[in-house]
Amino acid sequence: NYYAIIMAGGIGSRFWPISRTSYPKQFIDILGTGKTLIQNTYDRFLKVCPKENIYVVTNENYTGIVKEQLPDMADNQILTEPVMRNTAPCVAYGSFKIESINPDAAIVVAPSDHLILDEAAFIASIEKSLQTATKHQCLVTLGIMPSRPDTGYGYIQYTDNTIDGDFHKVKTFTEKPNLEIAKTFLQSGDFLWNAGIFVWSAKAIVKAFEQYLPEMSDIFAEARPHYNTENEKTHVNQAYLQCTNISIDYGIMEKANNVYVLPSEFGWSDLGTWASIYELAHKDYVGNAVIPAEKVIMYDSSNCMVNIPEDKLVIIQGLHDYIVVESNNTLLICPRDQEQNVKKVVADVKQQF
Ligand code: GDD
Ligand code: MG
Repeated sequence: NYYAIIMAGGIGSRFWPISRTSYPKQFIDILGTGKTLIQNTYDRFLKVCPKENIYVVTNENYTGIVKEQLPDMADNQILTEPVMRNTAPCVAYGSFKIESINPDAAIVVAPSDHLILDEAAFIASIEKSLQTATKHQCLVTLGIMPSRPDTGYGYIQYTDNTIDGDFHKVKTFTEKPNLEIAKTFLQSGDFLWNAGIFVWSAKAIVKAFEQYLPEMSDIFAEARPHYNTENEKTHVNQAYLQCTNISIDYGIMEKANNVYVLPSEFGWSDLGTWASIYELAHKDYVGNAVIPAEKVIMYDSSNCMVNIPEDKLVIIQGLHDYIVVESNNTLLICPRDQEQNVKKVVADVKQQF
């Protein structure tokens, strides 16, 4: 009864210039491992559930890429969205679909663009969560010990009230707080980062939609009788056009009162910044991380993060603590500690080009 929904319809706008609207981060082999992030995500879930129980929800512009990268998936496992409406509709479509196939399903919902280093620990956490979510009909999320007041994450305040030993009842869930608030969360010591990986029974999440996003729930309920028929796409597309744009975090997790968090440790990174890639990438003895390494020649340079297309010859002399990244004919050169400023620039650049 175990199922997986892989969310793969975002555009990863923070990760420029590698991640572009036409080819977002989940479809890239960002660490040079030989597999893209979505391929690694899929492989992990093969160890949790049968392959016919894995679904990918993505924008119709990316269907071709998904089929190419995950050739084992049947067409009816790739659920396509006509427009981007954030993760709540994505979860609604996937969950309602699975519930219509198997009302007793237990589902893990996960992003397609994260790195997980300790796969065995990850799988153990997911399996435990699937059992607890089924047994208690609650919403489970995986929590990560925070290391900095990052404003790009959801924060989970947990209590000492536990079920099945390790699952803590969630007191508050705050999606993307501002810096001041994030700092106080970190100081208080009873907060975890939301990893964006959720586990619940199909019934529990359908009920949560009815309760907290009733309009969206009605919209998908209308499409539901047409699921698994030739009219599915027409009705689902209709549903999407009526949906509001909201994430599952704001739409459901912040409001629901039956949420439990499993504090987890499995070498998790959402690979949200070059700094986080640099931290995890293989580095040479002077601290240079070069992906792929073949044609980049570095002299008297240290602590640089370099990511250049394979076929390009690059020579770097006397450079320290820099990010040098080229992709899609766009070159970024930036001191490693000024990466935050790039976001602003990118917004301007995007308007110009
Ligand atoms: N199908 C589909 N449709 N997928 C989407 C859409 C959409 O419209 N929008 C985003 N996604 C996918 C992304 O591709 C990604 O795999 C996942 O859903 C999460 O979306 P992000 O846009 O990356 O969310 P976030 O990183 O800002 O925030 C979430 O993840 C954090 C951890 O990385 C939240 O859950 C936070 O609370 C959490 O801390
Ligand atoms: Mg993300």
